[in-house]
Amino acid sequence: FDAIEVIRLKRDGHRIDDARIDWVVDAYTRGVVAPEQMSALAMAILLNGMDRAEISRWTAAMIASGERMDFSGLTAPDGRRLATADKHSTGGVGDKITLPLAPLVASYGVAVPQLSGRGLGHTGGTLDKLESIPGWRADLTNGEMMRQLSEVGAVICAAGSGLAPADKKLYALRDVTGTVEAIPLIASSIMSKKIAEGTGTLVLDVKCGSGAFMKDEASARELARTMVDLGRDAGVDTSALLTDMSVPLGLTAGNALEVRESVEVLAGGGPADVVELTVELARAMLAGAGITGVDPAENLANGKAMDVWERMIAAQGGDPHAELPVARHTDAVTAETDGVLTELDAMAVGLAAWRLGAGRERQGQPVQAGAGMELHVRPGDHVRAGQPVMTLHTDTPERFDRARQALEGGWAVATPDDAAAAALRERS
Ligand code: URA
Repeated sequence: FDAIEVIRLKRDGHRIDDARIDWVVDAYTRGVVAPEQMSALAMAILLNGMDRAEISRWTAAMIASGERMDFSGLTAPDGRRLATADKHSTGGVGDKITLPLAPLVASYGVAVPQLSGRGLGHTGGTLDKLESIPGWRADLTNGEMMRQLSEVGAVICAAGSGLAPADKKLYALRDVTGTVEAIPLIASSIMSKKIAEGTGTLVLDVKCGSGAFMKDEASARELARTMVDLGRDAGVDTSALLTDMSVPLGLTAGNALEVRESVEVLAGGGPADVVELTVELARAMLAGAGITGVDPAENLANGKAMDVWERMIAAQGGDPHAELPVARHTDAVTAETDGVLTELDAMAVGLAAWRLGAGRERQGQPVQAGAGMELHVRPGDHVRAGQPVMTLHTDTPERFDRARQALEGGWAVATPDDAAAAALRERS
């Protein structure tokens, strides 16, 4: 085959057959198909789409580019067989759910092999967040991961380089060629890693709204459907929840800030939206593993999930009781008038946190553990003139201006007069 022929096929709106898909994914991974050719093909896929059989074959080819893990023989130290369940979010702002969720599910005797990633653009990364805990390390060997799963029940770590290497290469290319937001490419990217990881149950949290890759419900629904089909075709018990990402989750966006909030949830407190989504996802993961009739909120309240969290962090070298880093500088954004917070845009808050140093500007850059956004009120809450609505955190105060710019137009306080006028308009 040749790359130009495959590009022309998709450019002209035709389907690509199995043999050509296998060839092009393998040849790109080996460096035979050039990055500029794969980037043209990715753009043709973005513009012309793929049918279900093409997406399925493309995903299989990405899985075949690397190793597969197998948890089917996993047992606890007492010899009991362990079912596995994993969750994947398509990415959002303040989405720290994996942190309380993995230990919570494990506290019911289901093993959670959570391979996670780093921040991407304005969205935070689970590994970046956990690395703010002194001593914690993300890189484990397959053997270490298996041992921790058996002994602790939960592990959150980086995917090894052997897992779906075609996706690693293609993802980096898509990131710089404007080809991230294509449903066939997102679905195959996520599912190739999850299927290769070998989890028994997979629950997808497909985000929808300004802070998500999918801005509208129809495309979020199509992405969810595509991923669920791919998982089920591969024998993974897969389900999906569609959840809102127009407002940030919880009251923090940033690395150590989000760890602190997650620990509050594990201690039985924390913001209601974070608790609610954690419990809902836990219920779906447990159901997939055959455990029904439990209320996951119980193990948040009674300390069992916290116990697994502490053992999980310690097993990866972290000190769960260590002080978390705090940013050297803070700056408050205050309300100008009395009123009600009517808007708090997830994208604006995510961009601000990113600019404050919680995310990267270039690949491989370190992130600031203490940087990010702390919210003091949620939409619907009353504020008084001069009251802080949010606080910006950073080690590098020259970043405050750009972060404040990102927030412009991203939040609004309506005075009681505005609110009454809006209500009148609505009625008429
Ligand atoms: N996350 C992934 O792993 N891949 C995508 O394409 C988008 C989000």
